[in-house]
Amino acid sequence: MRLLIVSNRLPITVIEEGGSLNFKESVGGLVSGLKSYLDSPRSSPSTKSINDYAWLGWPGTTVREKMKDELRSRLHSELHSYPVFMSEKTMDKFYLGFCNRTIWPLFHYFTSNVSYDEDYWLSYKQVNETFCEAITQILRPDDVVWIHDYHLMLLPKLIRERFPGVPIGFFLHIPFPSFEVFRLIPSLWRKEILEGLLGADLIGFHTHDYTQYFLRCVLRILGHEHNMGRIIISGRPVKAETFPMGIEFQKFHEASSIAEVKAENAELQTILAGSKVVLSIDRLDYTKGILNRLQGYEEFLERNPQWSGKVVLIMIVVPSRTKVEQYQQMKRQIDELVGRINGKFGSIKWTPILYHYKFIPFSKLIALYDASDVALVTPLRDGMNLIAKEYLAAKTDGKGVLILSEMAGASKEVREAIIINPNDVGEIAIALKQALEMPEEEKVRNSRVMQARLKRHDVIHWADSFIQSLLNLKEEERGLNYKLLAPSTKEQLAKDFNNAEHRLLLLDYDGTLSKLERYPQLAKPTDELLKTMKLISDNPKNEVVLISGRDKITLQSWFGALNVGLVAEHGVWIRKKKEDWRMLKQLNNDWKPKILPLLETYADRLPGSFVEDKEFSLAWHYRMADPEMASMVAKELMDDLVNFTANIGVQILQGRKVIEVRNSGMNKGDAGSNWISENHFDFIMAIGDDWTDEDLFNVLPETAYSIKVGMTQSKARFNLHAQEDVVKLIQELAK
Ligand code: UDP
Ligand code: G6P
Repeated sequence: MRLLIVSNRLPITVIEEGGSLNFKESVGGLVSGLKSYLDSPRSSPSTKSINDYAWLGWPGTTVREKMKDELRSRLHSELHSYPVFMSEKTMDKFYLGFCNRTIWPLFHYFTSNVSYDEDYWLSYKQVNETFCEAITQILRPDDVVWIHDYHLMLLPKLIRERFPGVPIGFFLHIPFPSFEVFRLIPSLWRKEILEGLLGADLIGFHTHDYTQYFLRCVLRILGHEHNMGRIIISGRPVKAETFPMGIEFQKFHEASSIAEVKAENAELQTILAGSKVVLSIDRLDYTKGILNRLQGYEEFLERNPQWSGKVVLIMIVVPSRTKVEQYQQMKRQIDELVGRINGKFGSIKWTPILYHYKFIPFSKLIALYDASDVALVTPLRDGMNLIAKEYLAAKTDGKGVLILSEMAGASKEVREAIIINPNDVGEIAIALKQALEMPEEEKVRNSRVMQARLKRHDVIHWADSFIQSLLNLKEEERGLNYKLLAPSTKEQLAKDFNNAEHRLLLLDYDGTLSKLERYPQLAKPTDELLKTMKLISDNPKNEVVLISGRDKITLQSWFGALNVGLVAEHGVWIRKKKEDWRMLKQLNNDWKPKILPLLETYADRLPGSFVEDKEFSLAWHYRMADPEMASMVAKELMDDLVNFTANIGVQILQGRKVIEVRNSGMNKGDAGSNWISENHFDFIMAIGDDWTDEDLFNVLPETAYSIKVGMTQSKARFNLHAQEDVVKLIQELAK
């Protein structure tokens, strides 16, 4: 199998200089993590099936037409990579626009920085299409597609539409915001974004919170409920799961012994001349809390004059997204603040902040980690933050202290660090003092605990767990697909149907012959369906029975004129062809006056829900209600009903967005048996979508064709994807 990584940014950024193409390392956690994973010898048995990889993405710049072929071939041969080219104009609207002026600030809770520009959105859609096209060109049948980050949230669905069976994973490297923030996106866009993501089989997030926020948005905006993170989308299982990204622990832990790093370190020691070192490294980004950090350091110097001349803050700021105004503005603010603090506290002999605005390569980075006594990591919001983890891993002797913002995903894992709220400058100042004065044994003790955890949950573990989970989901789907009514089985079914003289067709109505609607009365049969039903039921070889939970008046008014058998209220009433309605068993209704007020109370409590009063059953429908509230209230009602009805002979059924109370001892199975036992049928087919249909599947002879609508577990022998497939099948048989 080949792992096809798809991300906006490739691991290298191309620079065209003097007519030749040069590659420079791309910066950021996404590239760091994935590169480490792909470069490491993969030993885990779980992903042994992956034996090749390719990476598809934007080369980081606009490439002239005449250089494209050369770039394509170099990327392919040197880096297993495929470029997705984009014009400057597109990148302006897509990358600088929708990605970095809309999604990035919004998902990091900088709501006042967000622009909602239709042009940006259209460009976002277009670039996602372009990526899909590029994938189409290179996709192999054995590929596992792994899409990364917020630039490509529409892509999973686009690929799914073209290649329904391909395993697709998606990982979000930034926070997923809470519903109240996500909902700020215009309705149409937010819906498309969620639907886009749900095209994947597996959607991964760094923390449990982000996963929960995503699931909540899916429920509130699209109305899909989940079960332990699992959502069924048109019969396809999709899972949202937490995978905190790790680092390549061993590489960082062992790096200080590399000669190049040692040389860098020696040079640093001469410059630092015995000062204590506080380290700060980030891409220049307003989410990283660099200004707060500087203010915290200033406050620390203010409060602790005894540290004057004895401590240095090395601050590395890596240029990033320099064309976005907020980044330019931040750069000016940082420059100013550094100048002010150095001016205020510094002297000829001592510069409190050593500030560099540049990218640092690996060996220098390790030397800096190694030389630092404290790492000060204070993002206002950060998906994970790998710098924090790398620092801990690189401090081989364990004599380093990490100060980490509680707003970084990493804070959920490294609990032994000093965790601070970055909005509180005073808290940063106190943490700095505590870190610089911490006894050595305490530093080492804390570091060892965190190192052990980071070693276990390294980047290989992260990627392996993700890929394994994705492959497991596919395996499970294959299990269900195994029961899918495949074309060959369908052919056999049609053959058996044609050869038979007495055929029995037992069909559920809602969700099977008709789409589920917001209100039951909206699900009226269409003219097309009535035509099909007439055609199939007029054939004297066919006995067609509609077995429904509906009341008999509705069934009579919709289908009374047809030559079909009818079963109402899940088997309470039956009407055979050319006969009148009759009850299968004598039932009593004494319980109804007791239960009705309870259901009505719940209908009052949950706006949008209502009670349907049928002759021998009561149903509380909540399809129209606020989905999140509804699922809570429904659970409560189930609890109440179970207690309330303990000594009454009723049954409680939970269907699709409906809870039904009815006399026990009656179900669709009893009704079906009534027909089966009366005649000798040489072809029986039963179709249903709900779990009330399981009773029917249960009583069928082994040779019968039982079909469940939707790709979920069932006693039925076969599954069909959706309600539309049922109608098509009946139409084909009717011909
Ligand atoms: N990095 C680097 N050189 C630098 C600054 C950062 O190689 O000068 C790497 C760093 O080692 C880390 C990544 O860039 O792996 C930054 O990832 P992080 O998750 O901390 O932040 P992001 O940039 O993704 O927001
Ligand atoms: C974060 C994002 C990445 C992105 C990186 C650098 O880590 O999650 O997707 O690649 O920042 O940003 P850039 O805009 O330069 O790609």
